[in-house]
Amino acid sequence: MSDTKRYPVPAAFRQRALMDAEMYQRWYQQSINDPATFWGDRAQELLQWRSPWQSVCDWDFSTGDARWFDGATLNVAENCIDRHLAQRGDKAAIIWEGDDPAESKTITYRQLHDEVGRLANLLRARGIGKGDRVCIYMPMIPEAAYAMLACARIGAVHSVVFGGFSPEALKDRIQNAEACALITADEGVRGGRKVPLKANADRALSQCPSVHSCIVVQRTGGQVAWQDGRDFWYHEQVPQQPVDCPAESMDAEDPLFILYTSGSTGKPKGVLHTTAGYLLGASLTHRYVFDCQDDDVYWCTADVGWVTGHSYIVYGPLANGATTVMFEGVPTYPDASRVWQVVDKHQVTIFYTAPTAIRALMGAGDQFVTGTSRASLRLLGSVGEPINPEAWEWYYRVVGEQRCPIVDTWWQTENGSILIAPIPGAVDTKPGSATLPLFGVVPAIVDDQGKELEGAVSGNLVIKQSWPSQIRSIYGDHQRMYDTYFSTYPGTYFTGDGARRDEDGYYWITGRVDDVLNISGHRMGTAEVESALVLHPKVAEAAVVGYPHDVKGQGIYAFVDLMDGEQPSQALIDELKALVTKEIGAIARPDQLQFAPSLPKTRSGKIMRRILRKIANNEIDTLGDTSTLADPSVVDVLIAARLNT
Ligand code: WTA
Repeated sequence: MSDTKRYPVPAAFRQRALMDAEMYQRWYQQSINDPATFWGDRAQELLQWRSPWQSVCDWDFSTGDARWFDGATLNVAENCIDRHLAQRGDKAAIIWEGDDPAESKTITYRQLHDEVGRLANLLRARGIGKGDRVCIYMPMIPEAAYAMLACARIGAVHSVVFGGFSPEALKDRIQNAEACALITADEGVRGGRKVPLKANADRALSQCPSVHSCIVVQRTGGQVAWQDGRDFWYHEQVPQQPVDCPAESMDAEDPLFILYTSGSTGKPKGVLHTTAGYLLGASLTHRYVFDCQDDDVYWCTADVGWVTGHSYIVYGPLANGATTVMFEGVPTYPDASRVWQVVDKHQVTIFYTAPTAIRALMGAGDQFVTGTSRASLRLLGSVGEPINPEAWEWYYRVVGEQRCPIVDTWWQTENGSILIAPIPGAVDTKPGSATLPLFGVVPAIVDDQGKELEGAVSGNLVIKQSWPSQIRSIYGDHQRMYDTYFSTYPGTYFTGDGARRDEDGYYWITGRVDDVLNISGHRMGTAEVESALVLHPKVAEAAVVGYPHDVKGQGIYAFVDLMDGEQPSQALIDELKALVTKEIGAIARPDQLQFAPSLPKTRSGKIMRRILRKIANNEIDTLGDTSTLADPSVVDVLIAARLNT
């Protein structure tokens, strides 16, 4: 199906690109045929090791277990900071842009070294060391990166929790990881509004006896409650510490961080990543997918609370000695020209964002873009959800003025780094396709029985070989890793995504095939939202599905069945939406909430989400077979009361 346009690499870009088509092919083939040599060479080139490995890789997808660079030692903070000091001590490591356009600052690699060293020493002084879990609940300020790197320096395992999550969600994550410390701020600032981080933390910590230390960055100076003995001001404690902090020697397979992510069932899982393989995956992909060179100013707009922030704001760019921009605010504040203003202000050359942001900015009108220069830009990236061709074309034409390749990067928290994306100097792009697999990645498309399909087909996306930054475990529940990713289609890693492959071998990700929603690029389990809704005493049962949303990609549509005798009302809708915000956070708040006298169930009592999805998506004509329902008449009632989406 030659249904789409194909864009060759712009000539000017190709001339200075790190990798051309021949090199991509050669590397890719070697990475598949002889992974040990390929990854051994890359590991030598890209990372600094304290002692060598005994074996490059050892993996088994019948269990999902993988070990990379076994026996080697290294330290991630040393790789991201210390080794750059001789050549790049005065280079900007982080350019921070505040929510308020008048606020920004630059942190050089030397300053980064000192900040991280002091904080790492403070953590050690609080008795925190190798293997201890530290939770980080921060706004987008440089201290968030210092905190991650300080943990890495002393071998503590960080668990960053997105600042938009509720006290309840924070509590669950701290408890699951049994964290001994929390690093937070008094308040965050986003889009001119304050986020009460310390107050949220206090609520969470009242149920987290494992936390003995809470280190608080003063961001706004707002009033906060204080618990002596537990709470410490960052600005009082950190400056007293010495800058030199000997880095812990870490085994390649020692844990680096835990990051909670949503699945189709149960509570969020703590995805565990380890040291060497993760860092190699992040640095290699950051260098070659973004073609990042020494003079680039690279900006990824993600939040450090998500994996994109981990790999492509902090670890990948800093491992490569790059300049990474960190933005506290939102793309539309003070107005929709903000990101392009920031691009001009800091002369950003590489810009990486999510389709949701692109669609929102596109909707605001071209004048917000065309009123800025953007002459510094040479590459644009997209991540987190499928990008619709219309938004892709707009990004390419209006933002990049047809000189910047677009890298649509597909990957997941569990992957650690990008798996499918065009190498920008090597691979022609097609709007809406993540294109071709990266080094070491062997994707396949299987049908629902697990049979591999060849050629141009659609189906379920699996990966057939290990790659260095793959998930190593689910924290505290190793079995769940196997069950979730390696049991569905035995011998492969199941992504949970559907995909189509065209006759050029290009991959088109079609979205989740499980009960995971993708709201503005944020993963959310339907089960999590349902569990929050049924906490309300008036709710008997709830079922949540996604529906297409112009800006957010997907919106949340909730069907709620009330207890006998309870009456639907607007007040109750508001209450239920507020309950979800309180339990999880604003990103999980249902967009649509429809009361249902009962839910469509099979005779064995299983809710038929397929039908609810069709109703929410307004695909009433293709409902399919409803005869297996215990009571098919519920469907008509639900259709009649359907909300306009
Ligand atoms: C989706 C974010 C289409 C996908 C890095 C995946 C994408 C989930 C893309 C992972 C893309 C991510 N095109 N879909 N370029 N990138 N996704 O764990 O459904 O927050 O399974 O990682 O986002 O979300 P996560």
